[in-house]
Amino acid sequence: MNDRLVIFDTTLRDGEQAPGIALTPEEKVTIAHQLARLRVDILEAGFAASSPGDFEAVSRIAREVKGPVITSLARAHPDDIDRAFDALKDAERYRIHVFMSTSPIHMEKMLRLTPDEVFRASVEGVRRAKKYTDDVEFSPQDATRSDPDFMISVCRAAVEAGATTINIPDTVGFATPRDFVDLLERVFHEVKGERDDVVMSVHCHNDLGLAVANSLSSIAAGARQIEGAINGIGERAGNTSIEEVVMAVKTRQDAYGVELSVDTTQLYETSRLVSRLTGYPVQFNKAVVGRNAFAHESGIHQHGVLRDKETYEIMDAADVGQEAAQIVLGKHSGRAGFADALDKMGIVLDEESFARAFSRFKQLADRKVQIGEDEVRAIVEDQFGPATAKIRLIGLHVAGGNEVTPTATVRVEKDGTEQVFSGQGDGMVHATFAALRLAFGIDPKLIDYRVVPVTSGADALAEVSVVVQVGERTFAGHSINTDVVEGSAEAFANALNKSS
Ligand code: KIV
Ligand code: ZN
Repeated sequence: MNDRLVIFDTTLRDGEQAPGIALTPEEKVTIAHQLARLRVDILEAGFAASSPGDFEAVSRIAREVKGPVITSLARAHPDDIDRAFDALKDAERYRIHVFMSTSPIHMEKMLRLTPDEVFRASVEGVRRAKKYTDDVEFSPQDATRSDPDFMISVCRAAVEAGATTINIPDTVGFATPRDFVDLLERVFHEVKGERDDVVMSVHCHNDLGLAVANSLSSIAAGARQIEGAINGIGERAGNTSIEEVVMAVKTRQDAYGVELSVDTTQLYETSRLVSRLTGYPVQFNKAVVGRNAFAHESGIHQHGVLRDKETYEIMDAADVGQEAAQIVLGKHSGRAGFADALDKMGIVLDEESFARAFSRFKQLADRKVQIGEDEVRAIVEDQFGPATAKIRLIGLHVAGGNEVTPTATVRVEKDGTEQVFSGQGDGMVHATFAALRLAFGIDPKLIDYRVVPVTSGADALAEVSVVVQVGERTFAGHSINTDVVEGSAEAFANALNKSS
């Protein structure tokens, strides 16, 4: 048996299907580059046929991101498969991921197809994908609620038609580790059999909080590919968390005995970037990448860790890139100091991105005494907004309080001139958004608004994330600032700029 575990990352496809996430192609490319640094084996860049934005993101990632095999999802439908190929064709290496539902409820209620039609479409889909590439994955969607005999017969036919990876999705997070292993043992023997060129994979959802447990259990049943998303984001309760699977396999080699290619020191950086660009915060106590994953509060624990870290730590924070390197910068720090901090944190920026990040750093350093590692990270991740601005926010003044309706006045650069707009609202942020709606001349629906402190303390930087809907499309904006109202204005303007 091959003892390498393939990590298939679907942050940009299934992860991005999480409610309220609206990544632009540019943001997806940024995350994809980071996933390549993390050295995931397969990178599912999107679902090319689902929208022009997804097509663009998959094609750009295929052209620009080197290292992982790039894949696109496709229904077992000729147009989807052709579209996936069109988007992927310039990649160094690519895979087409074909799926078709096999459960009675999906076939009857959603697809309105008979089992025979599902069987034929699956085989035809795999054959069509195979004309474009040798690397074809097939997934029987809702496998864990399917009739196992039928699902296995479809998978067997998919392998005969050329599929080289058979992925068993627990689409609705219904399986328990024991049922899942039983099912996978059948798939392993009846579908993969002796074929070394076929890999059995799993794709688990977290509806019952079992995604990681189910994924890890599958290794014993012969699975050699695990699919998941960074921070476990995805439809409903999300997907398997890549960082948790990776660190469990690495820390408990005795239990799992499989090799990985992932550079675990990039896990924290990747988690932060995904959190920042999706606007999905990482819970403080999240395994591996949560802020408290290596923090010790009780005196007894602190005492033990000071004597020997292993008293209460089974992993080293440095192994996941979360060593809090005690980087402290301030307003007197120059380019060299900032560049050195980035270097220590393993962050690589091109010249233009560095210049933008450095200028943002200087602005914030002027207001704040100390800038630590988390703040540097947030500054770097914040650099995408201002450069794409069509209307630039120059100034903001908000007046009002308990007795007086808040009024916000924004000064913006629009069509080459400086212009001023005012708006009122129930609170300072509401008034600011009202003024910006006038400045942009659009009235978007606010879908999501979140403020998360980057560090603790009254002078902490806050990350603000906003998602707006303009017509049928959603746009996300982000900012970091010591001032929540100013940060909210920047994030809102950033989202509106993307829509215009
Ligand atoms: O959950 C699921 O079934 C999927 C498939 C398309 C692989 O995401
Ligand atoms: Zn899924």
